[in-house]
Amino acid sequence: MTASGTNQPARGGPGSSTAWEMLLPAASAPARGRGRALQAALRDAVRSGRLAQGTRLPSSRDLAADLGVSRGLVTEAYEQLTAEGYLRSDRGAGTWVGGAARAAHPRAHDGAPRPPGATVDFLPGTPDLSLFPRAGWASAYREVLARLPHRALGYPDPRGLPRLRTALADLLTRRRGVVADPERLVVCSGVAQAVTLLGFVLHARGEHTVGVEDPGSPEHDALFASAGVRTVPLPLDAEGLALGPLRASGVRSLVTTPAHQFPSGIAYSARRRTELLDWVRSVDGLVVEDDYDGDFRYDRSPVGALQGLDPEHVAYTGSVSKSLAPGLRLGWLVVPARLTEEVVERKRTMDLGNPALEQETLAHFVERGDYDRQLRRCRTAYQERRDTLVAALRDGFPGSEVTGIAAGLHVIVRLPARYGPQEHLLARAEAAGVAVRPLTAYGTRTPDDGSVRLVVGYAHLPPARIEEGVRLLVAAAGTVIPRACRVPRRGR
Ligand SMILES: Cc1ncc(COP(=O)(O)O)c(C=O)c1O
Repeated sequence: MTASGTNQPARGGPGSSTAWEMLLPAASAPARGRGRALQAALRDAVRSGRLAQGTRLPSSRDLAADLGVSRGLVTEAYEQLTAEGYLRSDRGAGTWVGGAARAAHPRAHDGAPRPPGATVDFLPGTPDLSLFPRAGWASAYREVLARLPHRALGYPDPRGLPRLRTALADLLTRRRGVVADPERLVVCSGVAQAVTLLGFVLHARGEHTVGVEDPGSPEHDALFASAGVRTVPLPLDAEGLALGPLRASGVRSLVTTPAHQFPSGIAYSARRRTELLDWVRSVDGLVVEDDYDGDFRYDRSPVGALQGLDPEHVAYTGSVSKSLAPGLRLGWLVVPARLTEEVVERKRTMDLGNPALEQETLAHFVERGDYDRQLRRCRTAYQERRDTLVAALRDGFPGSEVTGIAAGLHVIVRLPARYGPQEHLLARAEAAGVAVRPLTAYGTRTPDDGSVRLVVGYAHLPPARIEEGVRLLVAAAGTVIPRACRVPRRGR
């Protein structure tokens, strides 16, 4: 192998290029999976220390030539891992192993009932329930029932059925870059239960306060409160949780939504991800990573989980609430080794484990590839809906801006002050039958420029309903609907 540009040898291969050879199997993966395989191999090499911190990577051109893959594939892998915090790059100067170089760079789960009278309901939080794969789920359920031995209907392992924990661990490793040992994965009733379990465990360890994002999900406050833990709102800046207020707060643990912050819609920068991990190590605390919609990114591959960078200080949680249906109440929690036993004991005393049949069904569903198919199907539908919404808002509200990354099931739209004041706009929207919430409902701060920021959930609405809702909103705002707002209807 001839990879050049490595001014520091990779661990285990002094002065040699042997470290790059471990990437070769990725290069011989089937063409469609090659990019993912390369990213996984690089991630793994950094995590295991085979690529030591500070190692300079070959140029994308050199590595591509060495591996016999396209340069684009390598560039994409470098970009992805940089965004995740495994690598850092200084434009033009090179790419190194390790977190982003500091010097180089200068609220609701909405489980609440939906408003019955609303003509168009833009409240966030719900996927399109009509996309639930009834036939696939039913066939998986039937197969499970037909094959399951009687003893499998006894009390389940409180951690979750081993078969499901293994299937989920594979899925999370593959899709989200989680370090997911099935022994540390606990099946639970959604993110909500995961947060509650951790709340109890932290409380029992004498931690009675935890940080939450501001703006953030009010549900986080309520769940921690149920465990006797008080939440401390921590402000965000453009890169994620602001470090100054975090350090000053005195908390040692916090809950965060780094892949797609809820509700602001930003993704944490690579630098902030690294800084957050530095902070949590320095206080020997815990970051709870709520990956509620991490599979839905429309402009690029989703950024991998923070947990993958430090599984001993980050607890990772997610659920099927956005991908299948919240009514299934099925989720997962991957915990640091030091907390596993306590979390499992809490889970046991709380409900003796999740229902066995649903667990078996989900395992089957994941194993046979149906879960991946479902994600692809939802992703296509939601991307189209987001595009429709963004176009309708842009045309209907001149001067407005949709902020945040192209991801998830909702957007934030910032309307110039002339559409306000906020209370006025919201009252008129309600009267027009449009249910929509302001960003201020999720936090303690109000914008000082008089602008109105709305949280607009779109995933559960077909494109035509989205357009209708925006038209009603524009009319409610008292403006004439410009011609351009009449965006052509697209089928579903
Ligand atoms: C920030 C956030 N976390 C988690 C969830 C999902 O919670 P659960 O998995 O308990 O359904 C939601 C759902 O709206 C959410 O908004």
